[in-house]
Amino acid sequence: MQLARDLRVLRSLILAPATGATHAARLNGFYRGQAEDYDDFRQRLLQGRRQMIRQATAEPGRIWVDLGAGTGANLEYTSGDLHQWQRIYLVDLCPALQEIACRRIVRHAWRNVEVVQADATEFVPPEGVADLVTFSYSLTMIPDWYAALAQAVRLLRPGGRIGVADFYVSRKFPAPGGARHSLFTRHFWPLWFSRDNVFLSADHLPYLRDRFTSETVSEQRARLPFLPGFTVPYYVFVGRMP
Ligand SMILES: C[S@@+](CC[C@H](N)C(=O)[O-])C[C@H]1O[C@@H](n2cnc3c(N)ncnc32)[C@H](O)[C@@H]1O
Repeated sequence: MQLARDLRVLRSLILAPATGATHAARLNGFYRGQAEDYDDFRQRLLQGRRQMIRQATAEPGRIWVDLGAGTGANLEYTSGDLHQWQRIYLVDLCPALQEIACRRIVRHAWRNVEVVQADATEFVPPEGVADLVTFSYSLTMIPDWYAALAQAVRLLRPGGRIGVADFYVSRKFPAPGGARHSLFTRHFWPLWFSRDNVFLSADHLPYLRDRFTSETVSEQRARLPFLPGFTVPYYVFVGRMP
């Protein structure tokens, strides 16, 4: 039943210890109790993933690396046939979510998809290069997000694509044309999410726009389950390696 599942997730979000000696231990402690219900709840919470993945995969390439891939739900959002990719790597540090990803791969009989337990800031595929790197709601959970994007830059071939969807807040004085968030938004949401070690930043989107050639930049707001009247900002970015 939907309500029971939601309550289980909310209990984990509120009570599960995002504590531990290492980043991987903290992730696993946080997600272990909600892994089975993760996809159902996040389908309503993590908006923009479908748009980002559809646009980023509009032109299939050889190698796709999804960093912080979790349960691998993104693979169900691709435009076109997944089998056109030679190899897809789902990289994550959380075994509880990766188990769901493995089941998904078996269910769909995807033979070109591999689940890899590794840090997004360090992973290099055996091919040494990628045509597409994606981060969906993972950049805000990677403590050294700058290192994660530097790794994406190292992996991407010239002209390769990067796709990111995530929560964020704007700078107080954003670049012309960009969304400008209120004082409340800029302070409330980073505080709210930091309890779960999710760190909303005003710098992710400006950095992406600066480092890559933008193809899609979309700044929107999402309603949150069980928080009527509140909307949290998220963005979708798709760009190319110059
Ligand atoms: C909010 S979840 C998003 C998962 C998935 N991309 C999605 O859209 O449902 C964030 C993910 O980032 C992973 N993650 C956080 N830090 C990581 C790191 N340093 N290396 C690899 N994965 C990481 C977490 O384990 C988690 O699966």
